[in-house]
Amino acid sequence: MQEREPRAFYDDLAEDYHLVYPDWNASVRRQGTALDGVVRGALGDREHSVLDCSCGIGTQALGLARHGHRVVGSDLSPRAVRRAALEAAQRGLALPAAAADMRSLPFIDECFDVVVSGDNSVAHLLTDQDLRAALAGMRRVLRPGGLLVLTLRDYEHERAARRGAPRRFRR
Ligand SMILES: C[S@@+](CC[C@H](N)C(=O)[O-])C[C@H]1O[C@@H](n2cnc3c(N)ncnc32)[C@H](O)[C@@H]1O
Repeated sequence: MQEREPRAFYDDLAEDYHLVYPDWNASVRRQGTALDGVVRGALGDREHSVLDCSCGIGTQALGLARHGHRVVGSDLSPRAVRRAALEAAQRGLALPAAAADMRSLPFIDECFDVVVSGDNSVAHLLTDQDLRAALAGMRRVLRPGGLLVLTLRDYEHERAARRGAPRRFRR
């Protein structure tokens, strides 16, 4: 976990964030396909309205938009959001995006079928109060029967697994 405030940290990282992945475009495609399957499996095989409330540079938002979903992106980091919008435009995808804190989402009640917060974003919320505020807001903007998708990685577990893996599987 970075020591600086998340907004400044991710603003500084926005231009290079894709380098976190061995191949960011492949991850956009892979995560988009996986999330599309989850969404259609839970809510029906059609296109849905989705809020990615910690979209960063768009890893999950772009992936879902590629599958035809109507995705809105928001994130604490204005620079990450700007890059997500740019990446969408370069791909011919629609991705309305705005800077917003997931603890106080600026959207009307019950306006999305799906809310996504991907790849350890909620891990930045360090108190019960912040977690409650974020989860209550996500619930508020979801229509009744809508779907919340939170994805988290246990990096300590992954590091330990890699240390124990045969050399040829280490990266
Ligand atoms: C590990 S990154 C993941 C970004 C994106 N989901 C992805 O997988 O590329 C975590 C993201 O959470 C965002 N974030 C942290 N705290 C936030 C908050 N309170 N509200 C909205 N976004 C937040 C950061 O700005 C950052 O973009």
